[in-house]
Amino acid sequence: MAEPNAPLMNDEIEIDPNMLKDLTAESYDSTGYNTETTSLASSICKYTFENGRRYHSYYGPNKSYLPTDETEQERLDMHHEILVQTLSGKLFLAPLDTPQRILDIGTGTGIWAIDCADIYPSAEVVGTDISPIQPGWVPPNVKFEVDDAEKDWTFQPDSFDYVHSRNLAQSIENWPKLLSQCYQVTKPGGYVELAELSLQLNSDDNTNGPALLKWMNLVQEACDKIGRPGVTEDILRSRLEDAGFVDVVVQTFKQPYGPWAKDERNKKIGAMTILAAEAGTEGYGMALFTRILGMSSEEAKEICKAAVKDLRNKNYHSYSPYIVVYGRKPE
Ligand SMILES: C[S@@+](CC[C@H](N)C(=O)[O-])C[C@H]1O[C@@H](n2cnc3c(N)ncnc32)[C@H](O)[C@@H]1O
Repeated sequence: MAEPNAPLMNDEIEIDPNMLKDLTAESYDSTGYNTETTSLASSICKYTFENGRRYHSYYGPNKSYLPTDETEQERLDMHHEILVQTLSGKLFLAPLDTPQRILDIGTGTGIWAIDCADIYPSAEVVGTDISPIQPGWVPPNVKFEVDDAEKDWTFQPDSFDYVHSRNLAQSIENWPKLLSQCYQVTKPGGYVELAELSLQLNSDDNTNGPALLKWMNLVQEACDKIGRPGVTEDILRSRLEDAGFVDVVVQTFKQPYGPWAKDERNKKIGAMTILAAEAGTEGYGMALFTRILGMSSEEAKEICKAAVKDLRNKNYHSYSPYIVVYGRKPE
């Protein structure tokens, strides 16, 4: 299933020469590259609205700053595909043998859990989330539970071979408590893996778009304010080590924004990021900018819009680090 050689942070992503032909043009279309191969459907929302998006409020209004509407669910599924491609087709990096029980915290649409259940048909995969947005028709070995991962867990100690958490940095406040619960429910010899897209915007040729950089810095500022900061390799490593996990391995990959890369895999990943650009910039930005930074809805929308414009500009060759860390519970 997996292709070898996913590019790591030290590997340079070569820029497609077509992108460098006419620097006065910004649009990808000017290079003959079609970015409109698919579109994200707009949603008909039924619940609590804020700036035209539906948010989950069962556990309190500020439990989650991300919407849970259909637009967000499509974005999550698209991002899943991006991240699987980033790991060369793998769902995770921990060296699992034949896991029998797997837990996915903050499972979102459950797409990772469902794929995992397909790979390990003899395993039971449990996905938890505060929001019941998972589908009903799933493989028989997947189970979803509505649960706040920050509350006390009721799972039996030593009952999972593997616990997975992806892109929860902006959702969880008390990581030491969460990881101590992960430690408790993991079987001795089992693994816990944390995967997070960093809030860092990088470019190897210094071509970050200013509006995208502004958006990213504001998201960072708001996340710092709510005590859910962006992560680094060191932060993720110490989260696992402090909880007692050993043989911790960290690997960081580049997630390019826009189809500017020469190689097919990164071009496809980058193309998918701009398909999800509007949903992503507004999904992450709107609640944080209005609720935490006190902006008006119009101001916040303008910032998101400008960031999307930069994402669609072929002359900006940005990427964010995608950090994956796993560790083993000692026998
Ligand atoms: C960015 S999404 C990531 C979803 C999924 N892990 C993925 O990678 O596709 C964050 C998810 O965490 C959920 N979430 C937020 N706070 C949570 C909490 N305290 N306990 C459980 N899930 C939570 C949200 O409802 C949302 O589905």
